[in-house]
Amino acid sequence: MSDAEQAVRLELSEQIATLIVDNPPVNALSAAVMSGLEERLRAAHADPQVVAIVLAGAAATFVAGADISRLQAIGSGAPLGSGRSLAAILPLVESGEKPTVAAIDGFALGGGLELAMACNARVGSTRCRVGLPELKLGLIPGAGGTQRLPRLVGVQRAVDMMLGSTQIDGRQARELGILDELVDPGSNVVERAQLVARELADGRRELRRALERDDRLEPLDDARRIIADARAAAAKKHRNVGYPDACLDAVLEGVEKGAKAGFSREQQLFRELLVSDAARGLIHVFFATRAAAKVPGVTDAGLTASPIERVGVLGGGTMGSGIATALVSAGVEVRLKEVDDAALEAGVARVRGNVERNVTQGRITREQGDATLARLRGQTDYAGFSDLDMVIEAATEKVELKQQIFRELAERTSDRAILASNTSSIDIEHLAPEGAAGRVLGTHFFSPAHIMKLVEVVRSAKTSPQTLLDTLGLAKKMKKTAVTVVNCPGFLINRVFMRYGQAAGWLIDRGVDPYRVDRALYDFGMPMGPNRMGDLAGLDVSVFAAGIMDAAYPDHAYRSALRGLLVEAGRLGEKSGSGHYRYEGRKAEEAPKLAGFVARARELAGSPEPISPSDEEIVQMALFGVVNEACRAIEEGIVVRPGDIDVAAILGMGFPAYRGGPMKWADGIGARAVHDALADWRTRYGAALFEPSRLLAGKAKSSASLLD
Ligand code: COA
Repeated sequence: MSDAEQAVRLELSEQIATLIVDNPPVNALSAAVMSGLEERLRAAHADPQVVAIVLAGAAATFVAGADISRLQAIGSGAPLGSGRSLAAILPLVESGEKPTVAAIDGFALGGGLELAMACNARVGSTRCRVGLPELKLGLIPGAGGTQRLPRLVGVQRAVDMMLGSTQIDGRQARELGILDELVDPGSNVVERAQLVARELADGRRELRRALERDDRLEPLDDARRIIADARAAAAKKHRNVGYPDACLDAVLEGVEKGAKAGFSREQQLFRELLVSDAARGLIHVFFATRAAAKVPGVTDAGLTASPIERVGVLGGGTMGSGIATALVSAGVEVRLKEVDDAALEAGVARVRGNVERNVTQGRITREQGDATLARLRGQTDYAGFSDLDMVIEAATEKVELKQQIFRELAERTSDRAILASNTSSIDIEHLAPEGAAGRVLGTHFFSPAHIMKLVEVVRSAKTSPQTLLDTLGLAKKMKKTAVTVVNCPGFLINRVFMRYGQAAGWLIDRGVDPYRVDRALYDFGMPMGPNRMGDLAGLDVSVFAAGIMDAAYPDHAYRSALRGLLVEAGRLGEKSGSGHYRYEGRKAEEAPKLAGFVARARELAGSPEPISPSDEEIVQMALFGVVNEACRAIEEGIVVRPGDIDVAAILGMGFPAYRGGPMKWADGIGARAVHDALADWRTRYGAALFEPSRLLAGKAKSSASLLD
């Protein structure tokens, strides 16, 4: 059998040809699948023994879309190759001689759903998941999805689904009209699809083509208004990228001028987006996120992960209650321990509040909320701790206190229980009690822990691979993305982004307006500038953390006096009503009084000569240092791969995903250009902050990628 024949198998039974896409793990549309589909479809249409065709997927999933690695290669300049595009094959599905039916179990995403929508009918199981998530990759559907989905579910629903990259289940898909029939899990989706195929072949069921329908489309004026509203909402949500507009352009063209015109507009826009920086960035993030789950010596060591089902959380403050919320929401039984009844009551109330918000905002049902809270038990002692699989300590950030807690935990838990600290600054090795170091590690969650997706899993030299593996399993269960980091001060994110805050201070001391610094970085795509971010975190907290980091990494530190001066004056940031900005509730306004503090900080810095960088230079001065420090972390073996830094920066700092993360972004500029700019600032301004790292210098010299 050829590759194509293997990738799409044919089963012929009672005049129905069933084509089964078989391309593990998710039946993505590789070149072999495309060829196989085309060949098998042509053969089935030509075969007089066949009256109808069913399309299905092997291994309990339909088709999870285009082969993203192929899209990545094309986006990076590889030739399109001889393979056909899905769009070119779909006429054989929708308008061939014989009717077609999709049998959808598992995922029908992107090109998978486009393939299914081209069929003359669709049967799905209740556990199937369908959607057009192309926008998540900076693309739009490229095989008629922008035309067929609105014709099946109406413009409003289609636009919501595409712009949100939403996946829906079988029941919702049936309600919306994507599926014609819904079958229970367990019943045979393919068999039911074969029956529907026979009805179509016999003329007992109306044969429909999505592209020719207009019964679900809203009247033209309504459709135009829906698209205009979606455009306005997308402009607020997505800065600096064109794909939401492109998607809406294609839909609009189709509703105004007909599916054929819409289809060719979609094709043209899809091809343009495929080579866009945003698609390159987001596709990099797709693979980097999956790669981050793989830790050499741990996930490939042949170990079997033990599921973590019962967890103790020590401390019910903001972090502890957030962690407890994330755990109970993921189906884990939690014992939340606090020091006394009052603290416990407050901690439990925080968890309850978080879960209740999920109910009132419609993310979960009342019953699910109740079941979630039933998994939480509050206590002030160690009762039941001997039965726990893991304990996560989220007490105050004091070394002696945490050491004491870890000694108690080592005695009160079983030998196989994992002991984790949510510390953001304390050396994990200092916490591990004698004899228990193998089961100790850090789980550094980001605040609010029940919302933020990142967890830095911090291993010491003594943490056992099994401890790490089980913790990675727990993170996945909690729907968090874990990035594994070797123990070092600040771990990964706080360490590399300390340069961001330092550079912001340096720019201010060099006479650049703080608000301009913030605007430049906001316009670049950060959720807010570094000064506004400092205000949000609390400038007292920031000054304290800066002290720790500067002591740990004194060589290239730069600290403006500005934040310290603001703290001295009681301007602690948003929580005190003023910091760099002044606040009306959460709304930040520029504060005229800031100028005096800035002038004083500049004096304390020795009144260095002012500089006048462009906005682009401000961004580079603020972020090249991050990339440089990331190179040091890579050199020291703190992270497994550069892509891990991208994933962590996007999820932990809100670095714009469409730029692919700091390493991918810098790689686009080139190691040599980044290095030379840093070296130039180092010499010109005498600022050690910009001293290029050895790894960066090496990459610059050999013009190597920052991603290898
Ligand atoms: N093309 C190529 N590879 C794909 C893929 C695709 N469309 N979808 C998934 N994969 C790969 C992943 O890279 C991963 O590979 P790895 O094991 O080497 O790391 C593997 O398949 C499993 O994917 P993963 O995401 O880890 O599995 P999951 O069960 O958590 O999720 C999906 C399954 C299908 C929901 C998820 O993979 C997904 O969203 N895929 C992309 C769907 C999509 O965007 N399609 C439109 C493309 S334009």
